[in-house]
Amino acid sequence: MEACCRYCGFCKQLDRAAVVLLAKMKTVENDMEQKRTATLDLGNGSLPLEFPIMAGSMGPEVVDIRSLHARSGVFTYDPGYFSTASCSSKITFIDGDAGILLYRGYPIEQLARQCDFMEVCYLLMNGELPTSDQKMSFDNTIKEHTMVHEQLARFYTGFRRDAHPMAVMVGVVGALSAFYHDAMDISDAAQRELSAFRLVAKLPTITAMAYKYNIGQPFIYPHNNLNYAENFLHMMFATPAEEYKSNPVLARALDRILILHADHEQNASTSTVRLSGSSGANPFACISAGIACLWGPAHGGANEACLNMLEEIGDVSRIGEYIKRAKDKNDSFKLMGFGHRVYKNFDPRAKLMRETCHEVLNELGLQNDPLFKLAMELEKIALEDEYFISRKLYPNVDFYSGIVQRALGIPVSMFTAIFAMARTVGWIAQWSEMISDPEYKIGRPRQLYTGAATRDVVTIALRK
Ligand code: CMC
Repeated sequence: MEACCRYCGFCKQLDRAAVVLLAKMKTVENDMEQKRTATLDLGNGSLPLEFPIMAGSMGPEVVDIRSLHARSGVFTYDPGYFSTASCSSKITFIDGDAGILLYRGYPIEQLARQCDFMEVCYLLMNGELPTSDQKMSFDNTIKEHTMVHEQLARFYTGFRRDAHPMAVMVGVVGALSAFYHDAMDISDAAQRELSAFRLVAKLPTITAMAYKYNIGQPFIYPHNNLNYAENFLHMMFATPAEEYKSNPVLARALDRILILHADHEQNASTSTVRLSGSSGANPFACISAGIACLWGPAHGGANEACLNMLEEIGDVSRIGEYIKRAKDKNDSFKLMGFGHRVYKNFDPRAKLMRETCHEVLNELGLQNDPLFKLAMELEKIALEDEYFISRKLYPNVDFYSGIVQRALGIPVSMFTAIFAMARTVGWIAQWSEMISDPEYKIGRPRQLYTGAATRDVVTIALRK
């Protein structure tokens, strides 16, 4: 009689008492695993403290230090959150060293090649990929919500025509919070879901309206017999006088941009959405906060900054000068579209975006586009440079997404707004996950105070 594993094949053939004994052993083993601790000696003569180690389903374990302050009076110090897990989440997993990105366990490469954005939205929101029927029903639900209230359209006129689209997005998406008083109870899962549907459905409409307002054209209403990406292109490029015929290769490229940007774990804007939401704030206002954070050039604003940088470099002959500036500690210039806090070998989204970049430029006959050639040369030179190699600085998704969007005819100032449109589903899925977590608490970091020690006010006449 041979055991195929420690507990199953063999124990099936033992008597009941032996099975119970083995089960008990397994529980003790599990308990021991659960009780692994990390010891912290503060070096101040107090007894060392034990903290539980928690393991997720993948990725590094974490030390649960929630009781640290209550037991010792000290805080941890981690500006920039280099070593801090701010929450537990089942949505997205990244292994930055191995260049792995999973949504709900599925590799981004498979999702990008085999699914469309609506399937990915369903996955992020519900945890599983939809069946055909579920997909059809989800598509229809999203389509029911694509229009915005006519009063919201008036909101745009308060902005200058030349306002940056991200400024308009922050304002208009925040304004949505004033429109849906029927779904204000965030403790109700159905109401949270309704807000999520509204956000995912309306973001393309709102984004395209920001563009139309900017160029002084009339707003174009959504067309619900088009898919999500086609509909966005239609609202961007059709006019009341002329239809827009979308090219399937280009619509698919946009769909891929949306998939690749849909979620990215606890990045700056997602953490902003979670932190704003942790006070119980309105979900539309929280997404607006996420958009504000995304706008920065170190985050989503990098795609716009990257294209502006390429245009500023202008010619292959000037690459050396800019690489030199990027390496100079006294120069604040950085090579935009390079580097990532988490990815230290390659950004898997960048690989897929590079592929799309070639497809789109081939389709449009733009392989010899000077800006694309310049980008490819810059990529090559930077990848061979010791400064970039030693710091593990590789092109990130934004290096290529700007080139693709430009080829689709999208103006540079709209790039980050499209990133926001894609990321909205991730933000709202993460927000909803947090609200439904029984352990969630208002986010409240602590600080290391380095200001003046307590002192007395001197009356103004006596101050020197
Ligand atoms: N060009 C030149 N040097 C760089 C760059 C760059 N793009 N990125 C990082 N470095 C240097 C940095 O100066 C530092 O050098 P040293 O060790 O000598 O002081 C070292 O590399 C480590 O950089 P860091 O700033 O400590 O790394 P970080 O994890 O805090 O920052 C980053 C990550 C993405 C903010 C940064 O790499 C960056 O600003 N890149 C350009 C902006 C960009 O493309 N952002 C888009 C990120 S992808 C989209 C998204 O997910 O939001």
